[in-house]
Amino acid sequence: MFSKEVYQSRRKRLAEFTNGDFLLFLGNRQSAFNYESNEYAFRQDSTFLYLFGIDEPDYAAVIADGETTIYADDVTMDDIIWMGPQKSVADKASEVGITKTKPRRALINDVATALSQNRAVHFVPPYRGETIIELSELTGIPNGKVKESASRKLIDAMIALRSQKETCEIEEIERHMAYGYNMHVTAMKMAVEGKTEQEIHAAIDYQSMLGGGQVAFPTICSVSGQTLHNHTYNGILKRGQLLLVDAGSDSPLHYATDNTRTTPVGGKFTQKQKDIYQIVLNANNAVIEKSAPGIKYLDMHLLAARTIAEGLIGVGIMKGSAEDIVARGAHAMFFPHGIGHMMGLDVHDMESYNELYVGYDDEVKKSKEFGLSSLRLGRRLKPGFVVTDEPGIYFIPELMDKWEAEGKFKDIINYDKLKQYRDFGGIRLEDDLLITENGCRILGQRIPITIDEVENIQN
Ligand code: GLY
Ligand code: MN
Repeated sequence: MFSKEVYQSRRKRLAEFTNGDFLLFLGNRQSAFNYESNEYAFRQDSTFLYLFGIDEPDYAAVIADGETTIYADDVTMDDIIWMGPQKSVADKASEVGITKTKPRRALINDVATALSQNRAVHFVPPYRGETIIELSELTGIPNGKVKESASRKLIDAMIALRSQKETCEIEEIERHMAYGYNMHVTAMKMAVEGKTEQEIHAAIDYQSMLGGGQVAFPTICSVSGQTLHNHTYNGILKRGQLLLVDAGSDSPLHYATDNTRTTPVGGKFTQKQKDIYQIVLNANNAVIEKSAPGIKYLDMHLLAARTIAEGLIGVGIMKGSAEDIVARGAHAMFFPHGIGHMMGLDVHDMESYNELYVGYDDEVKKSKEFGLSSLRLGRRLKPGFVVTDEPGIYFIPELMDKWEAEGKFKDIINYDKLKQYRDFGGIRLEDDLLITENGCRILGQRIPITIDEVENIQN
């Protein structure tokens, strides 16, 4: 964990946003995989990790009137027999600068007392069933109403704190980018005819685990890259295909990395692949060149979209002007997702708080238009933001057929030419950026990305 001063300072800043309000935080519990004692790998709740640093199940905390209390139970002899010796709750709390601890069962009385004094009990939106049930039991709010009863004041305060990363957080992410790098370079080297997606997936996740944790999200490793979040691994690589790998590692302190690379099977691109690849790379580079404090990430999305439209005009798939294509939304046939999202303790950082609050504000509202509606971050950038830059071009046969049958954008899309791309797959190129005082920089060593760099990997 970070030093106790890091957590103390976060709680102090949170208290400044929330006065002396009663703030309730439930850490995660173990989650059963298929029966109670066979569990998923434990993942602490990110809000809890951010404020209290304790990476253990069954902890809760209250911050009220400038004081923090940890609610948890010391392990029993039975626990020690099965799990080994554990530090006491008091010792764990003291490591993060907290001196007041109570047994977990005291939480129900303390919340009831706050409610009886007509105090509001503030909590962030729960995303697990067991947390919803416990919040309901503690507060009396019906299960179905718990999520919508989360505190906007606390959510806004947490977003303000977590959006601008501290130096220790940036160092933790950057240190761990080396494992993300190895995940991708391993996959790029393995992208040869006859290998299976499953073998490569296993090798990628192994590289991540060498860093001390799990993966940050289920690895995408597919020759069907046109399916944006393809989590199947049934394919056998064939020459002429593109292997798309979107993968990230979970650092020891649970910060994510998130990169995507696309590699030709056998290591050499065809000319047709090179043409599309270079367009995606141009879009990625354009975003890096222009991202800076004060710039709306929505405008970076539109910049990437125009770069993609221009490139597709160049290869004869689209017609007209890039401005007009993007204004009418026709590019979304090929780029149906957003340019990126915040990254931190969650790969889509703070998404549990509601992406509208994280990525949008009074100035920048979320669009309902196809493609743009998948943009998770639209608001102006600030120094310390960590964001992903992940443009892509995809040829989705089902979408191509639907739009053609509907006669959609007939004046823009050259449907005859497009038939040559039915089996192309997809290309996405994703880097993680730190917004600096004057611009931005890529976090970690850049994973090979130019056509030459990618083609040299298997030499
Ligand atoms: N890398 C997965 C995602 O951004 O959704
Ligand atoms: Mn991403």
